[in-house]
Amino acid sequence: MCCCRRVWRKSAAKRGDSGSGLARTLCPEGRFAPDARVHPFPPQSPSGDAGEVLRIQPEVFLRRRYPAAVVVYTLCRPARPMAVRADGMDRVAEVTVEPSGLMVRPIPGTGEPLPVVGLGTSRTFDVGRDPARRTGPREVLRLFAQSAARVVDSSPMYGSAEAVVGDLTQELGLGGRLFLATKVWVQGRDEGVRQMEESLKRLRVNCLDLMQVHNLVDWMTHLKTLRAWKEQGRVRYIGVTHYSESAYPELERALKTGDIDFLQVNYSIVSTAAERRLLPLARERGVAVLVNRPFEEGGLFARLRGRPLPPWATQFDCSSWAQFMLKFILSHPAVTCVIPATDKPDHARDDLQAGRGGLPDMARRTQMVRILTGV
Ligand SMILES: NC(=O)c1ccc[n+]([C@@H]2O[C@H](COP(=O)([O-])OP(=O)(O)OC[C@H]3O[C@@H](n4cnc5c(N)ncnc54)[C@H](OP(=O)(O)O)[C@@H]3O)[C@@H](O)[C@H]2O)c1
Repeated sequence: MCCCRRVWRKSAAKRGDSGSGLARTLCPEGRFAPDARVHPFPPQSPSGDAGEVLRIQPEVFLRRRYPAAVVVYTLCRPARPMAVRADGMDRVAEVTVEPSGLMVRPIPGTGEPLPVVGLGTSRTFDVGRDPARRTGPREVLRLFAQSAARVVDSSPMYGSAEAVVGDLTQELGLGGRLFLATKVWVQGRDEGVRQMEESLKRLRVNCLDLMQVHNLVDWMTHLKTLRAWKEQGRVRYIGVTHYSESAYPELERALKTGDIDFLQVNYSIVSTAAERRLLPLARERGVAVLVNRPFEEGGLFARLRGRPLPPWATQFDCSSWAQFMLKFILSHPAVTCVIPATDKPDHARDDLQAGRGGLPDMARRTQMVRILTGV
């Protein structure tokens, strides 16, 4: 029996209970792995695995429930006390800054750095061959690459968007400078292969940076193909996507069993459900996270029209509501890159600015959510 267990048993005897639960909590060898049954906070283990260490702030637990044990905890605390919250928000994200000023984060599986602001193409790049309608997307892509941003996300679901990205990339001489991501969105192995071959042609590449299974359509079948494609060097990374909370249980399954490099999921200042399990799980499994629908398809701007930014937004170098919403997302440590969509160069400039300067801390994040949700 370790020293803390002996001390605790003594004080538990005085109180008249067994003290076994807290002994587990206190034991330095146990590294604060409390039994969920005796713990006052609901266990939010991201993976839900039985017996997994629930990471909490032991001081808080002890102060609330067992004031006398604070002394014991202080004496017996391990060399590096854990401060990881159960929702994975132990700290805001760590980033590196490129010479361009844009923050980058590593893809967990390989360490390859990715700029934290990318570009979505749903609707905005579905402009067909009309030269006039291509002006906006062309300028956006030019500006994007000039800013050293890289991740461009598309899908065969987005009409002509893949072809527009492919054409403009060639026209602007950006071959090899972007990180091109697209998706497979059909049922069946053969149809999937056919669609992915088509996407490579439209995007004008032999090897795609990231191929994702769109909205989890027939994901087990496609991931099998994609693992083979990865071996053959036809894709560099593979992943799955969705945009709705109803799909989170299935996304969790894909994270646990799919051997994927990327998860793409919706997460915004008003849709934070991914924080509960998915984002911590992605972190735990070393999976990169792309965030879609950061502005809820643009709907959040209508809510904020006419409202001034809070003065403290300047403390993390934020000068617009778009940056406010993107910096909120980027301050989550599981997030690798956010992919807002626009065909307006001014908006692209604004969005890219969110990838520069500071990020909000934990207290500010709470305030930010309150502003948008009115809580
Ligand atoms: N299941 C999936 O895989 C899935 C699902 C949804 C989305 N996605 C991906 O995620 C990307 C982003 O999501 P989304 O396109 O649905 O919505 P979003 O990025 O949340 O919102 C896009 C809207 O925001 C506006 N906007 C962008 N920057 C702005 C700024 N600085 N100021 C004011 N307005 C601004 C755009 O209008 P303007 O054009 O006027 O700037 C556009 O209407 C998609 O394009 C797609 O690539 C994937």
